[in-house]
Amino acid sequence: MSEKDYILGTHDEELIRLGLQHRVWRPMVLDCWQRAGITVGKRVLDLGAGPGYAALDLADIVGPYGEVVALERSGNFVNAMRASFRRRGISNAKIHELDLMTGDLPKAHYDFSWCRWVLSFVSDPSLLIRKLGAIMPKGGISIFHEYAHYETWRFLPPIAAQEEFRKHVIATWRESGGEPNGGRNLPALLFDNGFHIRSTRPLIFCVRPANYIWQWPITFIEVYLPRLIEIGRIDRTFADKVRADLAAAEKHPNALMITPLVAEIIAEKV
Ligand SMILES: C[S@@+](CC[C@H](N)C(=O)[O-])C[C@H]1O[C@@H](n2cnc3c(N)ncnc32)[C@H](O)[C@@H]1O
Repeated sequence: MSEKDYILGTHDEELIRLGLQHRVWRPMVLDCWQRAGITVGKRVLDLGAGPGYAALDLADIVGPYGEVVALERSGNFVNAMRASFRRRGISNAKIHELDLMTGDLPKAHYDFSWCRWVLSFVSDPSLLIRKLGAIMPKGGISIFHEYAHYETWRFLPPIAAQEEFRKHVIATWRESGGEPNGGRNLPALLFDNGFHIRSTRPLIFCVRPANYIWQWPITFIEVYLPRLIEIGRIDRTFADKVRADLAAAEKHPNALMITPLVAEIIAEKV
């Protein structure tokens, strides 16, 4: 699967959406990295770094005596990452434009690896974990935030059009060679490749419209509806129905949304 086949696309709207997504998740991510032990002077590998929002935070945290190595396939995202690192004066990060499936992961003594929302999109997660197992040193820590049960994503009271939309999301990710619940096989894959799980957490939220977390799935819907139209999966009438039902939910004083379940897994190479 090439960049142009990447189901979420690498256009500017997606780049901006990934920025909002990172800002929403930032408190949970910083907390996780701190618990895992990422600190000044460490070397961190970022797998499928996108436009580098997390990589930028990591570079700040590890500081001038540490290093971040960011791997990303999309040329657009790599260019955006290079530009934002330049703007921020980041000099402790290396960026490699690389396909995780076909390329060799750059060798170095990594203290940590970080992988978020990538296993759902690569064609062979077992290959990626095998490659990771081959380069992480004994004692190295690998951290994952990956979807484990995407079907938890729903509204209360339920919105039928959103549940239909969610089915299209799952189907199109699968049709493009990915697996929405990319984290499901991770415990077994890690074990097979010499990692022991040190800690896990379910990351799932039940939020009201005024909560910033609400914006994360909502902006995904905004960006993905046109994509579903473009690939001929839905028509404009259905897209308008989803938008109208969501707008109504936002006005409902007691509307709730349960987010897609993300599994946090922190594993050590033994
Ligand atoms: C949903 S985005 C997540 C980006 C980033 N990890 C984050 O948390 O913001 C998935 C990323 O994986 C990248 N990706 C998907 N398949 C890839 C592959 N085979 N090799 C390298 N990157 C890949 C995409 O280009 C995209 O940037």
